[in-house]
Amino acid sequence: MKKLEQLYEGKAKKVYKTDDPELLIVDYKDDATAQNGLKKGTIHDKGIINNRVTNHLMKLLAEHGVPTHFVEELSDRETVVKKVTIVPLEVIVRNIAAGSLSKRLGLPEGTKLKSTVLEYCYKDDALGDPMVNDYHIFAMELATREELDLIAKYSLMVNDFLTTYLKDLGIELIDFKLEFGKTSDGTIILADEISPDTCRFWDSATGEKLDKDRFRRDMGGEEDAYKEIMRRLLGE
Ligand code: TMP
Repeated sequence: MKKLEQLYEGKAKKVYKTDDPELLIVDYKDDATAQNGLKKGTIHDKGIINNRVTNHLMKLLAEHGVPTHFVEELSDRETVVKKVTIVPLEVIVRNIAAGSLSKRLGLPEGTKLKSTVLEYCYKDDALGDPMVNDYHIFAMELATREELDLIAKYSLMVNDFLTTYLKDLGIELIDFKLEFGKTSDGTIILADEISPDTCRFWDSATGEKLDKDRFRRDMGGEEDAYKEIMRRLLGE
């Protein structure tokens, strides 16, 4: 499978056409952004780690009944994925209060939530990805009721699987963001990535942050944190 012309360059990935109209190649970069693009930098080898961690988790999720866009890992940074139309929603799943939830609701970071929280944000950089509820989603026709039900069901399945899987590796899954897409026949599948860029991972024993918050909050040590996640998940 060969890369043809570049379709799109995002903050962390480039996407290329292939000779198969149903398949694309994603190429992960080391570029890191935060605060909706205001803060820019690079995290050495982040592209490799995010590509390999995402593929590893997507393969496991497919085995557990969550359909994904993953097709084949081509190289350290490149993966063949199914072409989808992205549903313009960021789905955030939270087990423990942190980040914007802590700020908005005044819950100290680390507060265990009595039940899992699902949030939706409308994917629009110019608007700063505002939070929306199901009424907004139907009124703006961002997804149908059936599609949103499936997206919620898959998101909770991802949470159940990942929480248990990561606990065994000494990682607490605080929260994460998912994106879904629609294939040409209208099937909803998990797309984008699942990585230290898009999840909060805390070391179960020490509470140490092993994710992009180290970069977002200028804590330092982000390269080692990403490497540690790759080591625990992939044994290298
Ligand atoms: P938040 O607390 O900033 O809303 O983030 C919740 C989770 O979603 C956290 O694991 C980081 C992830 N996330 C993204 O991956 N992309 C985003 O644009 C945002 C806002 C959050």
